[in-house]
Amino acid sequence: MPPAIHPEPTHTVEEQKQPSEVITLLSSRELERMRKACQMAAQLLDYLTPFVKPGVTTQKLNDLAEAWTKQRGAKSAPLGYAGTVMPFPRSICTSINEVICHGIPNSDDVLRDGDIINIDVTPIVDGYHGDTSRTFLVGDPSPQARRLVEVTEESMWRGIRAVKPGARVGDIGAAIQAYAEAEGYSVVRDFVGHGVHRIFHAAPQIPHYGERGKGKKLRPGMVFTIEPMINIGTHEAEILADGWTAITTDRQLSAQFEHTVAVTKDGVDVLTLSPAKVLA
Ligand code: MF3
Ligand code: CO
Ligand code: CO
Repeated sequence: MPPAIHPEPTHTVEEQKQPSEVITLLSSRELERMRKACQMAAQLLDYLTPFVKPGVTTQKLNDLAEAWTKQRGAKSAPLGYAGTVMPFPRSICTSINEVICHGIPNSDDVLRDGDIINIDVTPIVDGYHGDTSRTFLVGDPSPQARRLVEVTEESMWRGIRAVKPGARVGDIGAAIQAYAEAEGYSVVRDFVGHGVHRIFHAAPQIPHYGERGKGKKLRPGMVFTIEPMINIGTHEAEILADGWTAITTDRQLSAQFEHTVAVTKDGVDVLTLSPAKVLA
């Protein structure tokens, strides 16, 4: 997810690199290409799932993902993706415990029993990006950690269920925020969902907090991610010196789930839904 662009600029408009405000509406042919990329993303997470065990390194998960993606003739969008300090150096994001998002796989980072880890993948297939993530339980996490993960996934679904033509971007964030906060958690502000198609991070931004009835109107053909990051403690984030790794300022746990969705004539189509999960 891109950093949120806050409504009050701290720099002049020229200095600020605003993404294009233009929202692309995909044709049905383009949507089918998006669906292919999104299905590959879902299958990649399914493929990685049995490897998410105590003792595995995040580097190993990265290398498995990179090889799987290459074998299918696809590219990993994160690899070399431009950042403010350095390009992202790996093929997937692996965010453990207090890491909110954009964790960098590393051969020193070994998963331990009780960890939670978000794995975020974005293969590019035929020019289109499929963006999805899940938070996995490693071994036997505490009831507190499990509850956070459950509420985070449900908050994503509540956001998804707010999507239909004529609804507003604010309806999505309001649904997520109302639920997560009622459960005693906080919603990360500094990273948001985003339009996604041939461009990885496109308009519109999709905050995971907000007010019903506010923001841009949703129209058939819009495709964007919903990817709430939910924290046990404060919503505040800080970025490590690597320029990517975002962690909670209080070092309490953070979880995240992400789907890429399309607005349809009468509702929503979850493009990154796993076929395996549908049958489960
Ligand atoms: N997949 C992330 C998202 O959901 C973005 C990762 S950008 C990277 O938007 F460079 F960190 F990989
Ligand atoms: Co995303
Ligand atoms: Co993602």
